[in-house]
Amino acid sequence: MQAPSANRRFVLVRRPQGMPVADDFRLEEAPVPEPGDGQFVVRHLFLGMQPAARIRMSELPSYEPPTPIGGVPYAQTVGVVVASRHPGFAPGDHVASDGGWQTQSLSDGARAVRLDDRIRPLSAALGCLGASGLTGYVGLLDIGRPEPGSAVVVSAAAGAVGSVAGQIARIRGCRTVGIAGGPRKCRHVVEELGFDACVDHQAPDFEASLRDACPDGVDVYFDNVGGRVRDAVWFLLNDHARVVLCGLISEYNAEVPQPGPSWRQALVRRITVQGFLVRDHARRRDAFLDDMLGWIGDGRLRYREDVSVGLEQAPAAFAGMLGGRNLGKTLVSI
Ligand SMILES: NC(=O)c1ccc[n+]([C@@H]2O[C@H](COP(=O)([O-])OP(=O)(O)OC[C@H]3O[C@@H](n4cnc5c(N)ncnc54)[C@H](OP(=O)(O)O)[C@@H]3O)[C@@H](O)[C@H]2O)c1
Repeated sequence: MQAPSANRRFVLVRRPQGMPVADDFRLEEAPVPEPGDGQFVVRHLFLGMQPAARIRMSELPSYEPPTPIGGVPYAQTVGVVVASRHPGFAPGDHVASDGGWQTQSLSDGARAVRLDDRIRPLSAALGCLGASGLTGYVGLLDIGRPEPGSAVVVSAAAGAVGSVAGQIARIRGCRTVGIAGGPRKCRHVVEELGFDACVDHQAPDFEASLRDACPDGVDVYFDNVGGRVRDAVWFLLNDHARVVLCGLISEYNAEVPQPGPSWRQALVRRITVQGFLVRDHARRRDAFLDDMLGWIGDGRLRYREDVSVGLEQAPAAFAGMLGGRNLGKTLVSI
């Protein structure tokens, strides 16, 4: 029988070819890490499944080195400190950190944040009240800079980042159009999240429906997916439109860089395209949390969580999210 204190973890055994499959990972047990000076151990309660983990499984150049073969795949985690030799973190503290696909992790505090007591449920610290929400918030407000009445389009609108970005656009008085995969998600985006419209990118008439949903063109495009969805929005962009380059999930399973959009359109429309990484915007966290708690508290912003139970579900939950089976933030509770 497994010792209760053993660390259970997934490791990457080979680089996925296309969509990750179970045999790309191995579940194993390891000794519980011992904290050295300036370190602490976190017992994880939730893993947040992130598309960025797939980027790190590939050897294409990126902002972080690839997860090595034998390494633990990347995930942000929420957990409780169980042992500490770090002056800033005490046993019992709830923290969000980059703990990976495992039940416990060692941290030096560099990528860890002690959770604000107002964040409940704790899982929200991985979704709308954590990095996913902050990504939607700074991407839309600081980079998209929408005005009341702006036409805003958000792709992966039913997902963790897109659902927040689009709802903030709606709260700011924009005409907000989502793009999502399938009628169930599109209904959710309009009926529960309050977008003005949502267009199904899997439908055969996607491009025409998108044009119909954006009769005055697009002022801000919050791009989570790239590929043919981006290309369809691209030719609807208005003069001086802003493209918030948040993610390119349609490309993450590819082994070679994908062809890009039309630069001629960028020139003739004087479009600003700005990529960003949420990690550069930590200074916005206090304003973000105050605003989000207010909007959630008065019912103007809603969120969903897509929770699988048990560490062994991590690979399936991850592939499910990459394949679009999730509604809201994809989590694994352990
Ligand atoms: N820049 C940053 O700092 C930062 C931080 C966090 C996340 N991100 C990016 O934000 C994006 C969303 O992340 P998330 O965590 O919120 O994930 P998510 O939206 O909750 O889940 C991913 C969604 O992507 C959509 N998708 C997958 N393949 C697609 C394809 N080929 N074409 C169109 N849509 C596809 C699916 O939705 P549908 O079923 O609706 O198609 C799926 O549900 C990702 O690109 C991620 O890398 C960036």
